[in-house]
Amino acid sequence: MQFDEQKLREYYADPPEDIRLEDIDLARVPSHVSIIMDGNGRWAQARGLSRPKGHVAGVDSLREAVTTSVRLGVDVLSVYAFSTENWRRPQKEVDLLMHLFANTLLKELPLFHQENVKLRFLGDIESLPKKTYKVFQEGLEQTADYDGMVFALAVNYGARAELARAARLIAKDAMQGSLDVEQIDEQVLSERLYTHGLPDPELLIRTSGELRLSNYLLWQLAYTEMYVTDVLWPDFTRWDYLRAIRSFQGRRRRFGGVVES
Ligand code: FPP
Repeated sequence: MQFDEQKLREYYADPPEDIRLEDIDLARVPSHVSIIMDGNGRWAQARGLSRPKGHVAGVDSLREAVTTSVRLGVDVLSVYAFSTENWRRPQKEVDLLMHLFANTLLKELPLFHQENVKLRFLGDIESLPKKTYKVFQEGLEQTADYDGMVFALAVNYGARAELARAARLIAKDAMQGSLDVEQIDEQVLSERLYTHGLPDPELLIRTSGELRLSNYLLWQLAYTEMYVTDVLWPDFTRWDYLRAIRSFQGRRRRFGGVVES
């Protein structure tokens, strides 16, 4: 994706000691970056604050991650905001998160307009609280015509549920006669996932040091490079993002084959 090099250099002025913009190859920035934003609760608890305060602080990191992605020319940024398993959290925390999603989205819409960002949702958003769902629809409508970066927010998302849903959609098409069972291949399945039309992530970042996929994009992450950092999500900055890309660019991707030297 096109990006404004002048803006990018200004954005990355004043580097810390261990990383600079020059350390990465701007021609090889991953097209799709996905993030498991983890550690909000621990960040808050370490400061003697309630867990929801950690989520509120996490919003600032998310805004910075969106801006960073746009500046670097990333085509798609996807983030895991709420899983199908997260309903098991205390009701008060779930309520706050639903409220935060809706409020933040409304508040951040000007950023999407300014940066030509198109919004997508991954997950079953129809079963969310009415107000949250309504605001999400509003966000989709307002950004539908944008052709800049895609920002995909995974809410009420679970990879196994997504695959079961795809199987149902395929079965329906087969029963109705619009799909021949012999034609069912990887592409047919991909087209029935929430991520249809998007490239698979090239880089997955997980914060807070956990080495798990947590039922996230299990199909789409087949060949994705992973980067795990101990940094807690509310502390994650544009420089941590750069460190992740530097690590990604230092790897040889084989896609199951061999790399010729
Ligand atoms: C993980 O931290 C974070 C979440 C489950 C919620 C993510 C939400 C945000 C970053 C808030 C803003 C999001 C939007 C879309 C406006 P955790 O609670 O699992 O932390 P812990 O592992 O330390 O308990």
